[in-house]
Amino acid sequence: MAEFRKVATMAEVADGTMRLVQAGDTSIALCRLGGAVFATANTCPHRGGSLGEGSVQNGAIVCPWHAFQFDPKTGRCLNNPALAVACHQVRIEGEDILVEM
Ligand code: FES
Repeated sequence: MAEFRKVATMAEVADGTMRLVQAGDTSIALCRLGGAVFATANTCPHRGGSLGEGSVQNGAIVCPWHAFQFDPKTGRCLNNPALAVACHQVRIEGEDILVEM
């Protein structure tokens, strides 16, 4: 059964930004777009950049290393269809952001 863990609050993730969080030993990249928050694995599938330390442009996650872009909803890479990053389901409870582990 899916387990959701609190990883941050809405106030900790500004709209249009990325944030790197930890859930136990797992590093997760959060992406906030308005009232919605998306979560992906933190490691970029290209060469291992930290997506949580990247940026958001036109609704896409931008890796800080080589600027590959990823759809935060699907994890698909917009530059290379062969690449994708795993997504976690997100639940917002009040101000808390919970991620499925
Ligand atoms: S490591 Fe992310 S684009 Fe290269």
